[in-house]
Amino acid sequence: MSPEDFELAARFLKERSGLVLTRDKTYLLENRLMPLVRDLRLKSVADLIAGVRASDPAMQTAVIDAMMAKDTAFFRDWKPYVHFRTVVLPNLRVARGIQTRFRVLSAGVSTGQEAHSVAMTIKDVSSSFPGWNIEVVGIDISATAIAAAAKGIYSQFDVQRGLPIRTLLQYFTKQEDSWVLNDGVRNMVKFQTWNLMDDLFPLGRFDAIFCRNVLVYLDLKTKLEVLQKLGRLLVDDGVLYLGLNETVMGVSSNFRAVDPDLGIYAAHRADRPASLSLAAKVDL
Ligand SMILES: C[S@@+](CC[C@H](N)C(=O)[O-])C[C@H]1O[C@@H](n2cnc3c(N)ncnc32)[C@H](O)[C@@H]1O
Repeated sequence: MSPEDFELAARFLKERSGLVLTRDKTYLLENRLMPLVRDLRLKSVADLIAGVRASDPAMQTAVIDAMMAKDTAFFRDWKPYVHFRTVVLPNLRVARGIQTRFRVLSAGVSTGQEAHSVAMTIKDVSSSFPGWNIEVVGIDISATAIAAAAKGIYSQFDVQRGLPIRTLLQYFTKQEDSWVLNDGVRNMVKFQTWNLMDDLFPLGRFDAIFCRNVLVYLDLKTKLEVLQKLGRLLVDDGVLYLGLNETVMGVSSNFRAVDPDLGIYAAHRADRPASLSLAAKVDL
C-alpha cells in the first residue's frame, strides 16, 4: 500500500469513526480490508481507497465497517455483570419503584453479546420487576454487526465464549448448528446502527451505559468527546461500565470512580452525594 493511500485511509477513519491508525498499522489496514476487496471483486486495496477518495458513500461505509475490531463475548469479564446484578438492579428497583421503568445502553455493542448479556441478567431477576418497562438499546457503527445482533442467532463458538451452560439452555434453543436466542430476551433489546461520533441525544437518557472495549481504539480528544456525550446521556445517579483496561481518569471529570479495576464509574454530579448513585453498594 502506498504511503499516500495509508495517510488518506487513516485520516478518513479517524474523522469518521474515531479509529486511530498509526503508521506501523499498515498490515492491519490491509488484513482487514482484503476480505472486502474479495467480496467486491476488486483487484486490490488501492481500488477500495480510490472509492474512499472519490467519496463513494457505499465504499466509505464498507471500509469503516471492515476496519472495526468486533471481538466480543457473552458476559465478558464476568464481574461487571455481577456488579450490575447485585448492586445496580436492586438499587434501580428502589430508586425507580414509582416510575417502574429504566433503560440500559450498550454502546459499541458489536454482534449483540453485551446487550443480550445485560438482558439475560435482568430476565434472571424479572420477578423483582413485575410490569416494568425495561429497555436495553444496543448501538454500533457497524451495520453488519447490528444486523447480526438483531437476529440473535449465535454459533457454537460464540456461546462457548462466556455463556454458562445453565444460561445457554435457559435462554437459547438449538437449531441445527446454531443457537437461537428466545424471543423473551430478544424483544427486550433494540439495536440501531449509530456512530458515537454523531449526536447521541436522540437516543434518550439511560440509567446505565455499557461502553466496553470501544474507547480504547480512539485518540484522547475523541475519547473525551465521546465520554462527555455519554455523561450527558446518563441520568444523575447513572452508572458507566468501561472495559477493564479503560479509564476516565485524566480524561473526563463527569464521572467518579466506583471500581476502576473493573471499569465501573458513576455519573459525577457535584451536588449529589455518592451514596445516592445506582452504583453505590447499600447495606440492607
Ligand atoms: C471490540 S468491540 C467491543 C464489543 C463489546 N462492547 C464488548 O466489550 O465485548 C468494539 C465495537 O465498537 C464499535 N465501534 C467502534 N467505533 C465506533 C463508533 N465510532 N461508533 C459506534 N461504534 C463503534 C465497533 O464497531 C465494535 O463493534
